[in-house]
Amino acid sequence: MDRREFIQGAGSLPLLAAGGVRTANADDMIVVDEAGQLFAHGVASGDPLADAVILWTRINVARGHDDVPVRWLVASDEGLQQVVASGETRALHSNDFCVKVDATGLQPGHQYHYAFEAMGLRSPVGRTRTLPVGKVEHLAFAVASCSNFPAGYFNAYRDIALCDDLQAVIHLGDYIYEQARDGYATAGSAELGRQLLPTTELLTLDDYRLRHAQYKTDADLQMLHASHAMIAVWDDHEVANDAWKDGAQNHQDDEGDWRQRRRAAWRAYLEWMPVRNHDHPDKVRLYRQFRFGDLATLIMLDTRYIGRDRQIDAMALADQPEALQAALTDPARSLLGAEQEEWFVRTLQQASQTRWQLIGQQVMLAPLLIPDLSGVLDQQRARQALGDGVVDALLSSGGGSMPLLLDTWDGYPAARRRFLQALQQHAVSPVVLTGDIHTAIAADVQAQPDAAPVAVELITTSISSPGFDNYLPTQQPGQLAEQFLAHNPHLKLFETSQRGWLRIDLEADACDAQWRIVDRIDQRDYAAGVVQSLRTVHKSIPGFGLQQA
Ligand SMILES: [Fe+2]
Repeated sequence: MDRREFIQGAGSLPLLAAGGVRTANADDMIVVDEAGQLFAHGVASGDPLADAVILWTRINVARGHDDVPVRWLVASDEGLQQVVASGETRALHSNDFCVKVDATGLQPGHQYHYAFEAMGLRSPVGRTRTLPVGKVEHLAFAVASCSNFPAGYFNAYRDIALCDDLQAVIHLGDYIYEQARDGYATAGSAELGRQLLPTTELLTLDDYRLRHAQYKTDADLQMLHASHAMIAVWDDHEVANDAWKDGAQNHQDDEGDWRQRRRAAWRAYLEWMPVRNHDHPDKVRLYRQFRFGDLATLIMLDTRYIGRDRQIDAMALADQPEALQAALTDPARSLLGAEQEEWFVRTLQQASQTRWQLIGQQVMLAPLLIPDLSGVLDQQRARQALGDGVVDALLSSGGGSMPLLLDTWDGYPAARRRFLQALQQHAVSPVVLTGDIHTAIAADVQAQPDAAPVAVELITTSISSPGFDNYLPTQQPGQLAEQFLAHNPHLKLFETSQRGWLRIDLEADACDAQWRIVDRIDQRDYAAGVVQSLRTVHKSIPGFGLQQA
């Protein structure tokens, strides 16, 4: 049933029990009945500060409904008896009835519970946490990206929700995907009951709103949001594949004006996500920082929309190696844009007051050079997946210095040099967190080969999007990883076949990373485990760089 249909008899629906959203049994969680629930899209919190947090929900009424008065409350207990903050707001028709509140006056380093009330009903209860101040001994984060609704169940989100000790979830984008019902990664969606709404590729504000709405009916995603504060930033698929500042690979002229499409997508994102609101629809600065006492600063960057120059088309320049080199080495090309780069340097200087600098961003920072795949690639399947042109190019440039992807920092080497210089000059002990690539990767990030690492890079695999092994199938399992690791010695992990998330545990002297995986996404039942653990000691201690834990 379409979410836009009016809720009949909402006033007579039973209230959801406090804490009911946090049970492990999928059947006990929020009933995702779009017609029958006023709070069918759950609750969420995000962008925590020491004294404030954004609280989010949506009132699921019909499109033509009047604005709805909404009460919100924050309490120190799960039963919502010890209320510490409350207020009134309205779910506005003009905001798709999404409700966002900046709840202030909170205590630092505290866990809180919150809920909304509207039309005589109370929402599920969410849990959140403010940022700590002063001396901080330990912080735990989940890092996630690339949740593709039709590709499988969000079991990895549930695995994150079930971790009780997280400070926050850092989401690095591809929170939604813009594809049509029969597009990318949709082959099994009918059997999974996860066929996309709308059926077409997202172009308009209504399209993007409906896709966000569909995602937020997912029980595991609701459980994730109800369990932890989220610090989110977008990647390309929140608008369109391989986006840059003036367009995208997946935006054609006959799909209308790029800026209008992007404005619609951004607006829906800001309505539907628990991020602090921004003042101007054409200039959304999603880059920002969070401070966790004396232990860490988290700097979130936008490598997609605000300053990225157009990606180089390596296929178009395949028979013009000099032109390709000239484009690649052009010092003017930027990934962050001048304004964000300046802000980054300034912020990094301030962040040196904390022991660690976490940098959350989208695309891989360390080089990923194409290995010699001629002896291992299952060419027949690879050609089916990628086409002859791409496979031939991969095989002919394998084993040399050609990067696999030019949408990453590999396609912007001058910008990467400036970025690494900033880290060298201003960061105390930097850890870069990356999404986008659907692969669990860890890399020592060096200014030159064989040099001591400037930073370490920890890359989370996808929640459900297909990994590299779908496109680069090998004759034997594990061969792809072997070849990439051998040809890229700065990589300490390269695991393409697993879906999951990345757990970070930070203490004064060490950053521990665990790649947690779920064994399946084609069923709600799953088993979770750790595929790899790597430790990085603080840069003030000899031996900075990724080590087996
Ligand atoms: Fe993705």
